[in-house]
Amino acid sequence: MKKLLYIDACIRDEESRTKRIAEPIVKALEGKYDIQRYTLNDMNLSIVQKDLVKERNSGIINPMVMTWAETVRDADRIVIAAPFWDMSIPAALKNFLELCSILDVTFKTNDKTCYGNCRAEKMLFITTRGMDIPTGDVREQATSYLKALSWLWGIGPLQVVAAQNMDYASAAEIEEKIGVAIQEGLAIVNDF
Ligand SMILES: Cc1cc2nc3c(=O)[nH]c(=O)nc-3n(C[C@H](O)[C@H](O)[C@H](O)COP(=O)(O)O)c2cc1C
Repeated sequence: MKKLLYIDACIRDEESRTKRIAEPIVKALEGKYDIQRYTLNDMNLSIVQKDLVKERNSGIINPMVMTWAETVRDADRIVIAAPFWDMSIPAALKNFLELCSILDVTFKTNDKTCYGNCRAEKMLFITTRGMDIPTGDVREQATSYLKALSWLWGIGPLQVVAAQNMDYASAAEIEEKIGVAIQEGLAIVNDF
């Protein structure tokens, strides 16, 4: 069975509206893919700082981090669920992605440039935003970053499911937005 990596960066966990949208969408893919879930809250994510870069440059990669990067590389599909934080993604997700961005694992290089080394032909990003900011707006730096990184890693087109204005809507409106986003996501994964 083909493999799907689900990166759960819903830091507020059970309180997360993003997670409420993502869970039924990922569940709908259960019969089609062997799903591996990485819940970032449960992972020990070191920051990529001086010593780690030095180690990496001498070919030393923590075996657990290498497994994460290889799982990213070998996934046939990737789903990322993350709220909109500080106009982008939560640092924990950036951190995880930095850790997985390893030369000759998720990307390669030649004498001119870098190119991707990942298998996934499709990636889905599920998010919710507090303010009324649409996907692709210049203030919305999550999608543009994930698109750039998926280019570096050679991952196919990124599709986005988003609910916005979540912090300025009534409880009923929030429920409505969650329901609409779930339906949008289910329509996408129907052919994912
Ligand atoms: C640490 C933090 C940073 C946030 N930064 C932004 C932001 O820059 N812009 C915005 O529109 N909403 C921001 N929000 C609001 C969230 O995007 C919004 O509440 C979202 O629905 C949270 O998703 P969740 O329910 O899955 O945790 C922030 C919330 C938190 C907790």
